[in-house]
Amino acid sequence: MKEVIVSGMRPTGRLHLGHYLGVIQNWVQLQDKYDCYFFAADWHALTTKYDKTEDLRQNTLDVIMDWLACGIDPEKSVIYVQSLVPQIAELNVYLGMITPQNWVERDPCLKDMAKILKSKDGQGQQINYGLMGYPVLMSADIMMFNADCIPVGIDQVAHIEITRDIARRFNNLYGEFFHEAKPLLNHCSLICGLDGNKMGKSFNNDIKISDTAEVTSKKIMSAITDRSRLRKDDLGHPDECEVAFKYWQIFGSEEEVANVRCECEKGLRGCAQCKRQLGDKINEVMAPIREKRKYYEEHPQEVEKIIQEGSAKAREKAQAVLNEVRKLVKMY
Ligand code: TRP
Ligand code: SF4
Repeated sequence: MKEVIVSGMRPTGRLHLGHYLGVIQNWVQLQDKYDCYFFAADWHALTTKYDKTEDLRQNTLDVIMDWLACGIDPEKSVIYVQSLVPQIAELNVYLGMITPQNWVERDPCLKDMAKILKSKDGQGQQINYGLMGYPVLMSADIMMFNADCIPVGIDQVAHIEITRDIARRFNNLYGEFFHEAKPLLNHCSLICGLDGNKMGKSFNNDIKISDTAEVTSKKIMSAITDRSRLRKDDLGHPDECEVAFKYWQIFGSEEEVANVRCECEKGLRGCAQCKRQLGDKINEVMAPIREKRKYYEEHPQEVEKIIQEGSAKAREKAQAVLNEVRKLVKMY
Protein backbone atom coordinates (compact mmCIF):
# COMPACT_ATOMS: atom_id res chain seq x y z
CA MET A 1 0.00 0.00 0.00
CA LYS A 2 1.38 3.35 -1.04
CA GLU A 3 1.14 6.33 1.29
CA VAL A 4 -1.39 8.98 0.32
CA ILE A 5 -0.56 12.54 -0.65
CA VAL A 6 -3.06 15.37 -0.93
CA SER A 7 -2.24 18.86 -2.09
CA GLY A 8 -4.13 21.74 -3.61
CA MET A 9 -3.83 25.24 -4.93
CA ARG A 10 -6.32 28.05 -4.88
CA PRO A 11 -7.23 28.73 -8.52
CA THR A 12 -6.08 32.33 -8.86
CA GLY A 13 -5.14 32.18 -12.55
CA ARG A 14 -2.26 31.13 -14.73
CA LEU A 15 0.75 29.83 -12.80
CA HIS A 16 4.30 31.17 -13.04
CA LEU A 17 7.79 29.71 -12.97
CA GLY A 18 7.85 30.01 -9.18
CA HIS A 19 4.94 27.56 -9.00
CA TYR A 20 6.57 25.29 -11.56
CA LEU A 21 10.01 25.11 -9.94
CA GLY A 22 8.85 25.36 -6.33
CA VAL A 23 5.75 23.18 -6.28
CA ILE A 24 4.69 21.39 -9.45
CA GLN A 25 8.07 19.84 -10.29
CA ASN A 26 8.02 18.38 -6.81
CA TRP A 27 4.50 16.98 -7.32
CA VAL A 28 5.57 15.40 -10.60
CA GLN A 29 8.33 13.51 -8.78
CA LEU A 30 5.98 12.33 -6.03
CA GLN A 31 3.52 10.74 -8.46
CA ASP A 32 5.48 7.50 -8.76
CA LYS A 33 6.04 6.94 -5.05
CA TYR A 34 2.64 7.89 -3.60
CA ASP A 35 -1.08 7.75 -4.25
CA CYS A 36 -1.50 11.40 -5.18
CA TYR A 37 -4.58 13.61 -5.02
CA PHE A 38 -4.15 17.06 -6.56
CA PHE A 39 -7.02 19.51 -6.59
CA ALA A 40 -8.04 23.06 -7.40
CA ALA A 41 -9.26 24.54 -4.11
CA ASP A 42 -12.14 26.58 -5.48
CA TRP A 43 -13.99 26.75 -2.15
CA HIS A 44 -10.83 28.12 -0.57
CA ALA A 45 -10.73 30.76 -3.30
CA LEU A 46 -14.24 31.80 -2.23
CA THR A 47 -13.08 32.53 1.35
CA THR A 48 -11.73 35.86 0.13
CA LYS A 49 -13.04 36.22 -3.45
CA TYR A 50 -16.71 35.35 -2.91
CA ASP A 51 -17.62 38.65 -4.58
CA LYS A 52 -15.47 38.06 -7.66
CA THR A 53 -16.44 34.71 -9.08
CA GLU A 54 -16.65 35.56 -12.78
CA ASP A 55 -13.09 34.29 -13.39
CA LEU A 56 -13.29 31.28 -11.08
CA ARG A 57 -14.12 28.71 -13.74
CA GLN A 58 -11.44 29.89 -16.17
CA ASN A 59 -8.88 30.17 -13.37
CA THR A 60 -9.61 26.59 -12.37
CA LEU A 61 -9.11 25.42 -15.96
CA ASP A 62 -5.91 27.45 -16.27
CA VAL A 63 -4.39 25.99 -13.12
CA ILE A 64 -5.22 22.43 -14.14
CA MET A 65 -3.95 22.94 -17.70
CA ASP A 66 -0.68 24.25 -16.25
CA TRP A 67 -0.37 21.12 -14.08
CA LEU A 68 -1.03 18.82 -17.02
CA ALA A 69 1.49 20.68 -19.16
CA CYS A 70 4.14 20.32 -16.46
CA GLY A 71 3.67 16.57 -16.20
CA ILE A 72 0.96 15.92 -13.63
CA ASP A 73 -0.40 12.74 -15.14
CA PRO A 74 -4.08 11.77 -14.84
CA GLU A 75 -3.04 8.11 -15.29
CA LYS A 76 -0.96 8.31 -12.11
CA SER A 77 -2.68 10.93 -9.97
CA VAL A 78 -6.24 11.88 -9.15
CA ILE A 79 -6.82 15.41 -10.45
CA TYR A 80 -10.04 17.04 -9.29
CA VAL A 81 -11.93 20.17 -8.38
CA GLN A 82 -12.69 20.59 -4.68
CA SER A 83 -16.30 21.68 -5.16
CA LEU A 84 -17.00 18.63 -7.33
CA VAL A 85 -16.39 16.48 -4.25
CA PRO A 86 -19.25 17.51 -1.91
CA GLN A 87 -18.18 14.82 0.59
CA ILE A 88 -15.47 17.29 1.64
CA ALA A 89 -18.15 19.76 2.72
CA GLU A 90 -19.85 17.12 4.85
CA LEU A 91 -16.59 16.13 6.51
CA ASN A 92 -15.98 19.85 7.09
CA VAL A 93 -19.19 19.93 9.17
CA TYR A 94 -18.05 17.11 11.47
CA LEU A 95 -14.58 18.58 11.86
CA GLY A 96 -16.02 22.03 12.57
CA MET A 97 -17.94 20.62 15.52
CA ILE A 98 -14.81 19.30 17.23
CA THR A 99 -12.51 22.25 16.54
CA PRO A 100 -12.23 24.71 19.45
CA GLN A 101 -12.63 28.34 18.36
CA ASN A 102 -9.22 29.33 19.71
CA TRP A 103 -7.45 26.81 17.46
CA VAL A 104 -8.54 28.72 14.37
CA GLU A 105 -8.18 32.13 15.99
CA ARG A 106 -4.51 31.58 16.74
CA ASP A 107 -3.68 30.22 13.26
CA PRO A 108 -0.82 32.50 12.13
CA CYS A 109 -1.60 32.05 8.40
CA LEU A 110 -5.13 33.24 9.02
CA LYS A 111 -3.91 36.22 11.02
CA ASP A 112 -1.78 37.26 8.04
CA MET A 113 -4.70 36.89 5.63
CA ALA A 114 -6.92 38.91 7.96
CA LYS A 115 -4.33 41.67 8.12
CA ILE A 116 -4.14 41.90 4.32
CA LEU A 117 -7.92 41.96 3.97
CA LYS A 118 -8.36 44.71 6.53
CA SER A 119 -5.59 46.81 4.96
CA LYS A 120 -6.16 49.15 2.04
CA ASP A 121 -5.25 46.38 -0.44
CA GLY A 122 -8.17 44.33 0.75
CA GLN A 123 -10.35 47.48 0.77
CA GLY A 124 -11.12 46.98 4.45
CA GLN A 125 -12.95 43.70 3.84
CA GLN A 126 -14.49 42.08 6.87
CA ILE A 127 -13.45 38.61 7.95
CA ASN A 128 -16.28 36.23 7.18
CA TYR A 129 -17.20 32.97 8.88
CA GLY A 130 -15.92 30.95 5.92
CA LEU A 131 -12.45 32.46 6.16
CA MET A 132 -12.30 31.60 9.86
CA GLY A 133 -13.03 28.06 8.78
CA TYR A 134 -10.12 28.00 6.30
CA PRO A 135 -7.93 25.62 8.35
CA VAL A 136 -10.88 23.34 9.12
CA LEU A 137 -11.83 23.07 5.44
CA MET A 138 -8.20 22.40 4.63
CA SER A 139 -8.21 19.65 7.25
CA ALA A 140 -11.28 18.18 5.55
CA ASP A 141 -9.39 18.23 2.21
CA ILE A 142 -6.55 16.30 3.77
CA MET A 143 -8.50 13.90 5.99
CA MET A 144 -11.01 13.15 3.22
CA PHE A 145 -8.41 10.81 1.69
CA ASN A 146 -6.77 9.96 5.00
CA ALA A 147 -3.56 11.48 3.70
CA ASP A 148 -0.15 10.71 5.19
CA CYS A 149 1.95 13.48 3.66
CA ILE A 150 1.17 16.98 2.45
CA PRO A 151 3.66 18.66 0.12
CA VAL A 152 3.40 22.36 0.94
CA GLY A 153 5.45 25.48 1.31
CA ILE A 154 6.69 26.57 4.71
CA ASP A 155 3.84 29.14 4.88
CA GLN A 156 1.25 26.35 5.10
CA VAL A 157 2.84 24.33 7.89
CA ALA A 158 0.78 25.95 10.65
CA HIS A 159 -2.35 24.77 8.84
CA ILE A 160 -1.07 21.20 8.77
CA GLU A 161 -0.41 21.42 12.51
CA ILE A 162 -4.08 22.26 13.07
CA THR A 163 -5.03 19.35 10.82
CA ARG A 164 -2.98 16.99 13.00
CA ASP A 165 -4.62 18.38 16.14
CA ILE A 166 -8.08 17.90 14.64
CA ALA A 167 -7.26 14.35 13.53
CA ARG A 168 -6.00 13.50 17.01
CA ARG A 169 -9.11 14.97 18.58
CA PHE A 170 -11.37 13.02 16.24
CA ASN A 171 -9.52 9.79 17.04
CA ASN A 172 -9.80 10.44 20.80
CA LEU A 173 -13.50 11.25 20.60
CA TYR A 174 -14.76 8.65 18.16
CA GLY A 175 -12.06 6.00 17.80
CA GLU A 176 -8.74 5.65 16.04
CA PHE A 177 -9.26 6.27 12.31
CA PHE A 178 -7.37 9.20 10.82
CA HIS A 179 -3.64 9.33 10.11
CA GLU A 180 -1.78 12.38 11.36
CA ALA A 181 -0.61 13.98 8.15
CA LYS A 182 2.96 15.24 8.00
CA PRO A 183 4.02 18.26 5.97
CA LEU A 184 6.47 17.35 3.22
CA LEU A 185 8.58 20.44 2.77
CA ASN A 186 10.19 20.72 -0.62
CA HIS A 187 13.66 22.07 -0.81
CA CYS A 188 13.48 23.20 -4.41
CA SER A 189 15.39 26.31 -5.37
CA LEU A 190 13.23 29.35 -5.01
CA ILE A 191 13.15 31.56 -8.07
CA CYS A 192 12.88 35.30 -7.44
CA GLY A 193 10.89 37.70 -9.59
CA LEU A 194 12.35 39.81 -12.42
CA ASP A 195 12.85 42.67 -9.93
CA GLY A 196 14.62 40.51 -7.35
CA ASN A 197 11.60 40.29 -4.99
CA LYS A 198 9.49 37.18 -4.43
CA MET A 199 7.89 36.12 -7.71
CA GLY A 200 4.19 36.86 -7.60
CA LYS A 201 1.41 37.59 -10.02
CA SER A 202 0.32 40.71 -8.16
CA PHE A 203 3.86 42.13 -8.18
CA ASN A 204 4.02 42.14 -11.97
CA ASN A 205 7.44 40.47 -11.87
CA ASP A 206 6.58 36.96 -12.99
CA ILE A 207 7.03 34.77 -16.04
CA LYS A 208 4.04 32.55 -16.64
CA ILE A 209 4.35 28.90 -17.60
CA SER A 210 2.06 29.79 -20.50
CA ASP A 211 3.92 32.93 -21.64
CA THR A 212 5.08 32.76 -25.26
CA ALA A 213 8.78 32.70 -26.13
CA GLU A 214 8.51 36.32 -27.32
CA VAL A 215 6.92 37.51 -24.08
CA THR A 216 9.48 35.57 -22.03
CA SER A 217 12.43 37.06 -23.92
CA LYS A 218 11.03 40.54 -23.50
CA LYS A 219 10.44 40.06 -19.78
CA ILE A 220 13.96 38.68 -19.29
CA MET A 221 15.43 41.84 -20.83
CA SER A 222 13.97 43.75 -17.85
CA ALA A 223 15.61 41.46 -15.26
CA ILE A 224 17.93 43.08 -12.73
CA THR A 225 21.66 42.47 -13.29
CA ASP A 226 24.82 43.59 -11.50
CA ARG A 227 23.86 47.16 -10.62
CA SER A 228 27.47 48.35 -10.38
CA ARG A 229 28.05 47.54 -14.04
CA LEU A 230 27.57 50.50 -16.37
CA ARG A 231 29.37 49.57 -19.59
CA LYS A 232 29.48 46.19 -21.22
CA ASP A 233 33.23 45.82 -20.85
CA ASP A 234 33.19 46.73 -17.13
CA LEU A 235 34.21 43.70 -15.11
CA GLY A 236 31.02 42.00 -13.85
CA HIS A 237 30.20 40.34 -10.54
CA PRO A 238 27.88 37.41 -11.23
CA ASP A 239 27.24 36.83 -7.54
CA GLU A 240 25.88 40.35 -7.30
CA CYS A 241 23.82 39.92 -10.45
CA GLU A 242 20.61 39.67 -8.52
CA VAL A 243 18.33 38.05 -11.05
CA ALA A 244 19.89 37.18 -14.40
CA PHE A 245 22.75 35.09 -13.05
CA LYS A 246 20.46 33.33 -10.59
CA TYR A 247 18.20 32.38 -13.49
CA TRP A 248 21.24 31.05 -15.36
CA GLN A 249 22.01 28.87 -12.35
CA ILE A 250 18.49 27.46 -12.44
CA PHE A 251 18.11 26.92 -16.19
CA GLY A 252 21.64 26.54 -17.53
CA SER A 253 23.91 23.50 -17.48
CA GLU A 254 26.95 23.54 -15.21
CA GLU A 255 29.12 24.25 -18.22
CA GLU A 256 26.96 27.15 -19.41
CA VAL A 257 26.92 28.71 -15.95
CA ALA A 258 30.71 28.44 -15.66
CA ASN A 259 31.09 30.05 -19.06
CA VAL A 260 28.73 32.94 -18.22
CA ARG A 261 30.58 33.52 -14.95
CA CYS A 262 33.97 33.55 -16.60
CA GLU A 263 32.97 35.88 -19.45
CA CYS A 264 31.09 38.20 -17.10
CA GLU A 265 34.01 38.51 -14.68
CA LYS A 266 36.42 39.26 -17.51
CA GLY A 267 34.13 41.87 -19.05
CA LEU A 268 33.71 39.81 -22.20
CA ARG A 269 29.91 39.62 -22.02
CA GLY A 270 27.48 42.50 -22.04
CA CYS A 271 24.36 42.24 -19.91
CA ALA A 272 22.02 42.76 -22.85
CA GLN A 273 23.64 39.95 -24.81
CA CYS A 274 23.72 37.80 -21.69
CA LYS A 275 20.00 38.25 -21.11
CA ARG A 276 19.17 37.60 -24.76
CA GLN A 277 20.89 34.24 -24.40
CA LEU A 278 19.21 33.63 -21.07
CA GLY A 279 15.80 34.21 -22.63
CA ASP A 280 16.64 31.67 -25.34
CA LYS A 281 17.76 29.20 -22.70
CA ILE A 282 14.57 29.50 -20.64
CA ASN A 283 12.49 29.19 -23.80
CA GLU A 284 14.37 26.03 -24.74
CA VAL A 285 13.66 24.47 -21.33
CA MET A 286 10.00 25.57 -21.33
CA ALA A 287 9.22 24.71 -24.97
CA PRO A 288 7.90 21.16 -24.43
CA ILE A 289 5.75 22.30 -21.50
CA ARG A 290 4.32 25.16 -23.50
CA GLU A 291 3.58 22.90 -26.43
CA LYS A 292 1.66 20.58 -24.14
CA ARG A 293 -0.18 23.56 -22.62
CA LYS A 294 -1.18 24.68 -26.08
CA TYR A 295 -2.42 21.20 -26.91
CA TYR A 296 -4.76 21.24 -23.91
CA GLU A 297 -5.94 24.79 -24.70
CA GLU A 298 -6.91 23.51 -28.13
CA HIS A 299 -8.61 20.40 -26.72
CA PRO A 300 -10.81 21.72 -23.92
CA GLN A 301 -13.05 18.66 -24.05
CA GLU A 302 -10.05 16.51 -23.06
CA VAL A 303 -9.35 18.73 -20.08
CA GLU A 304 -13.01 18.57 -19.10
CA LYS A 305 -12.90 14.77 -19.31
CA ILE A 306 -9.81 14.62 -17.08
CA ILE A 307 -11.49 16.87 -14.50
CA GLN A 308 -14.77 14.95 -14.54
CA GLU A 309 -13.14 11.52 -14.35
CA GLY A 310 -10.69 12.63 -11.65
CA SER A 311 -13.47 14.16 -9.60
CA ALA A 312 -15.58 11.00 -9.93
CA LYS A 313 -12.65 8.93 -8.69
CA ALA A 314 -12.15 11.35 -5.81
CA ARG A 315 -15.86 11.18 -4.88
CA GLU A 316 -15.74 7.40 -4.77
CA LYS A 317 -12.74 7.36 -2.42
CA ALA A 318 -14.19 10.18 -0.35
CA GLN A 319 -17.54 8.45 0.07
CA ALA A 320 -15.84 5.36 1.48
CA VAL A 321 -14.07 7.47 4.11
CA LEU A 322 -17.25 9.40 4.84
CA ASN A 323 -19.23 6.20 5.42
CA GLU A 324 -16.66 5.21 8.04
CA VAL A 325 -16.77 8.67 9.62
CA ARG A 326 -20.57 8.67 9.81
CA LYS A 327 -20.45 5.29 11.51
CA LEU A 328 -17.83 6.42 14.03
CA VAL A 329 -19.67 9.66 14.85
CA LYS A 330 -22.87 7.59 15.14
CA MET A 331 -24.91 9.54 12.67
CA TYR A 332 -28.22 8.12 11.47
N1 TRP B 1 -4.14 26.65 1.55
C1 TRP B 1 -3.41 26.18 0.40
C2 TRP B 1 -2.75 27.39 -0.27
O1 TRP B 1 -3.20 28.48 -0.12
C3 TRP B 1 -4.30 25.47 -0.58
C4 TRP B 1 -4.91 24.26 0.03
C5 TRP B 1 -6.22 24.08 0.35
C6 TRP B 1 -4.25 23.04 0.37
N2 TRP B 1 -6.44 22.86 0.88
C7 TRP B 1 -5.24 22.17 0.90
C8 TRP B 1 -2.92 22.60 0.28
C9 TRP B 1 -4.92 20.90 1.36
C10 TRP B 1 -2.61 21.31 0.74
C11 TRP B 1 -3.61 20.46 1.27
O2 TRP B 1 -1.78 27.21 -0.97
FE1 SF4 C 1 24.61 39.28 -14.92
FE2 SF4 C 1 25.13 38.32 -17.31
FE3 SF4 C 1 25.37 40.94 -16.81
FE4 SF4 C 1 27.10 39.23 -15.76
S1 SF4 C 1 26.79 39.65 -17.94
S2 SF4 C 1 26.09 40.92 -14.68
S3 SF4 C 1 25.78 37.44 -15.37
S4 SF4 C 1 23.49 39.74 -16.79
